Amino acid sequence: MTLGMHTLTAGRGLLFGGDYNPEQWPEHVWEEDAELMRAAGVNLVTVGVFSWARIEPEPGKRDFAWLDRVLDLLGAAGIGVDLATPTASPPPWLGHRWPETLPVDESGHRLWYGSRNQFCPSSPVYRERALALVEDLAERYADHPALALWHVGNEYGQVCHCDDSARAFRAWLKERYGDLDTLNEAWGTTFWSQRYSEWAEIVTPRRAPYIVNPSQQLDFWRFCSDALLAHFRAERDVLRARTPDVPVTTNFMGLFKPVDYWSWAQEEDIVSNDHYPDPADPLAPARTALTHDLMRGLAKGRPWLLMEQSTSAVNWRPHNPLKPPGRLRLESLQAVARGADGLCYFQWRASRFGAERFHSAMVPHAGADTRLHAEVRAHGRELRGLREVAGQPVPARVAMVFDWPSWWALEERGRPSDRLTATDQLFSYYLPFWERGVSVDLVPPSAGLDGYALVVVPNLFLLGDADAAAMTAYVRGGGVLVVGPFSGVVDERAHVRTGRFPAPLREVLGASGEEWQPVEGPVRCRWADGAEFAAHTWTELIEPEGAETVAEFTGGGPAVLRHRAGEGVAWYVATMPEPDALGELAERVLADAGVRGVLPELPRGVEAVRRGDVLFLLNHGADAVRVPLPHAATDLLTGSAVAGRITLAPQAVAALVRGEA
Ligand code: GAL
Ligand code: ZN
Repeated sequence: MTLGMHTLTAGRGLLFGGDYNPEQWPEHVWEEDAELMRAAGVNLVTVGVFSWARIEPEPGKRDFAWLDRVLDLLGAAGIGVDLATPTASPPPWLGHRWPETLPVDESGHRLWYGSRNQFCPSSPVYRERALALVEDLAERYADHPALALWHVGNEYGQVCHCDDSARAFRAWLKERYGDLDTLNEAWGTTFWSQRYSEWAEIVTPRRAPYIVNPSQQLDFWRFCSDALLAHFRAERDVLRARTPDVPVTTNFMGLFKPVDYWSWAQEEDIVSNDHYPDPADPLAPARTALTHDLMRGLAKGRPWLLMEQSTSAVNWRPHNPLKPPGRLRLESLQAVARGADGLCYFQWRASRFGAERFHSAMVPHAGADTRLHAEVRAHGRELRGLREVAGQPVPARVAMVFDWPSWWALEERGRPSDRLTATDQLFSYYLPFWERGVSVDLVPPSAGLDGYALVVVPNLFLLGDADAAAMTAYVRGGGVLVVGPFSGVVDERAHVRTGRFPAPLREVLGASGEEWQPVEGPVRCRWADGAEFAAHTWTELIEPEGAETVAEFTGGGPAVLRHRAGEGVAWYVATMPEPDALGELAERVLADAGVRGVLPELPRGVEAVRRGDVLFLLNHGADAVRVPLPHAATDLLTGSAVAGRITLAPQAVAALVRGEA
């Protein structure tokens, strides 16, 4: 049986805990911590993320005695340990003795120690030192009863332009292109006299006088993600060799640009994520839902782990409002509703010193006898009542396609408008589905689409032939496809596809265009029935070739097109409609696909999502609302029976199962 979240939740139920950094505290505090953790229902803590210097105080020395005591203490308290390889933050001695392990930015400046994350992903010295430590860590704790999960590194995202990185980049390029002629062609180096005559001339896209070659830059993004992945794999393999039954994860950061999580997720046993919604952002609940759905997609529909969230304020935004009472519960239960089987925090006890001393924690500076810690405890207790949710899937009939290389390629300099971005496009298409209680799976372009009634492509600037063919076949076979603007523009090398656009989808969309026209200010559009709406930023000069014009620019020309192709329907949106118009569009395409939200009527601000047998309702709005229900139900959180409708106070959550308990 493959390793996964079930490996952890079997016998534990939903996971609850956080990052634990005992090296910041004297040992008598550890005892109190274990006691408090127990009282709060904590069953998993992440230990050792930043303890390289503590374990290896000088090159080659080892001090595990303190960590032995920590693991013994946690084990005795029945708390599972998510043991980190402490390789995210090397000690100063590494950079001091081996400066080549320190990362170099695109201007050639070396970044120093004194903070964290200062390593070069392609440094052989870093690799060797890191793996030696991981070997010893694995050897030491392989059989420790508290060991539940391995946490490799922390939030991978380093980029480096040093000579070691340039060398590794060249090796990566040789692997991809074989010979220099192929590379020169792929990078279009006849442009601006960029032709390479030997491999040694090729470097990472370092700071240059003007716009860097976009194909080179795209390959560098790919390389950086792969170089980090190679390091992750190397650590993972050391761990797997020693503990084949202990799952391995590394914590992601949602829609984080430098790392292609589709390629990473298949290399780990458990998908985990760090997520910190901005309390000042009114759209945070929907953005969070999107991130959670991405994690579920990365986990291929299996449960995932919310590795880090905050109980209240963070310290790294310029201005950091607290979370109001009740918010930590609401946010955590939102993750449960969207497929998380573990709800962990950064961090257990608030630091007294260091860069994060003003970051909230499960135990604040003021101690355990506080409002915040009382909420933490209550939440831990409540999660025990939701045990049966663990392992349950979140079914979705709608897929939304998102791709890292396309994101990278789209946002290179020198394009028609930098106001069309991959993540904004994604979010603006996601929002109306979220508002309507329609569950969405995030998928990569190469995903099998046949199981979905509706597939939405907010933007795929870069689209490969095979993926375009698969989308075409999906529509012909009866699927409903929606494609946003500026899609299908370039191939995998970031070369523009010539001919009328979007060339690879022209036939299935039954329309094609010849000019992109970014605009200042709003543009008016009109649905065929006469109702008007506004769009912005982007328009295209496009003509139907079999498609019907569903909406047009009032100044002339189609804005939204719909085409019956084979058994299915393909939509194309040649502009950026306002949110309400995207809502209208969502209703039309949902009708084409025969998909509905989980409830017929959903008040604004209420999130509705079904996970297994449980219907979660979460009120993110500022007012109490009444939600009509189709059947009698029992709320797992309160044990009370509800029929007809349920009233939800602001920040309230209901977890409803059909029938009376
Ligand atoms: C994460 C990181 C943690 C901590 C936290 C603060 O990015 O993994 O170590 O820094 O942010 O919000
Ligand atoms: Zn480097």
